[in-house]
Amino acid sequence: MNEAENSDLTETFMNRMREQQELLRYRMKQIKHKIAVISGKGGVGKSTITVNLAAAFAMLGKQVGILDADLHGPSVPRLLGLAGQQARVGPPGAFPVKGPLGMKVISIDFFLSEEHTPTIWRGPLKMTAIRQLLSDIVWGELDVLFIDLPPGTGDEPLSIAQLLPDINGVIIVTMPSELSRAVVNKAITFARRLRLPIIGIVENMSGFVCPKCGEKIDIFQSGGGKKLAEEAGVPFLGSIPLDPRVSMDSDKGALFVVEHADSPVAKAFSKIVKKVEVYLKENEKSSAPPK
Ligand SMILES: Nc1ncnc2c1ncn2[C@@H]1O[C@H](COP(=O)(O)OP(=O)(O)OP(=O)(O)O)[C@@H](O)[C@H]1O
Ligand SMILES: [Mg+2]
Repeated sequence: MNEAENSDLTETFMNRMREQQELLRYRMKQIKHKIAVISGKGGVGKSTITVNLAAAFAMLGKQVGILDADLHGPSVPRLLGLAGQQARVGPPGAFPVKGPLGMKVISIDFFLSEEHTPTIWRGPLKMTAIRQLLSDIVWGELDVLFIDLPPGTGDEPLSIAQLLPDINGVIIVTMPSELSRAVVNKAITFARRLRLPIIGIVENMSGFVCPKCGEKIDIFQSGGGKKLAEEAGVPFLGSIPLDPRVSMDSDKGALFVVEHADSPVAKAFSKIVKKVEVYLKENEKSSAPPK
């Protein structure tokens, strides 16, 4: 390759990057609020909380989207009964799959031909994939986009922080155990280093409400999340109790907050939603240009 060809190639590459950046900005401008759900540790209930919070917002009449940014273990399609669906691709980009309550859902699973195909990607490719899941998708206008992330402080949350500088914030999910407390501190430090605003901490699997007598049993010494939040100076959004029906609904692809609207778990979600709504309103005010 001679020098002229080399410089042509560089220019084409730079132009493509600029176009992609423009497209990302355009698509993201149509979404009022963006919230990511993170944790330091796996299996604490991030995906369950993402889809149920999203559903609770949709039940309030909001236009809601969910981005499953867990590239290696996407679980949002299964939780919403959308496993096996494929995203429709048209000239403007790929269209999100319509989920329950009219929620617009995107997951890497909707682009893979088989549910069992593993994705094998290194860091830079993950960033490209997440960029495309944000910019090449015809999201349209949304009130809130919820982003479900894999556990830990790896490439996916890093990509989200870089690609969405105007993100409203992150919700950190924890479980009431000592180990989890140590891990959640890492998640707080990670969010702070990346200048990701912390909306608050949710303590999941916090006590077990006996379905027979209604008594709450503290299996993992609940309350740690609140104490931790106080110590770290971040808001505490609420505790969600353990309820075996949560995992049954997950397996069925049903939304717990819809199926069991009167349960203590669904009530806990409503309380969290109220706090998140207040946060978003405050955030809107503080980011509005001065009159
Ligand atoms: N409050 C709860 N009560 C009972 N089961 C729950 C509750 N929250 C989550 N679960 C169950 O715990 C398991 C893990 O939940 P989930 O997949 O949402 O965790 P995660 O943090 O997204 O996991 P990963 O780190 O693998 O992405 C699921 O089987 C889910 O149904
Ligand atoms: Mg998950």
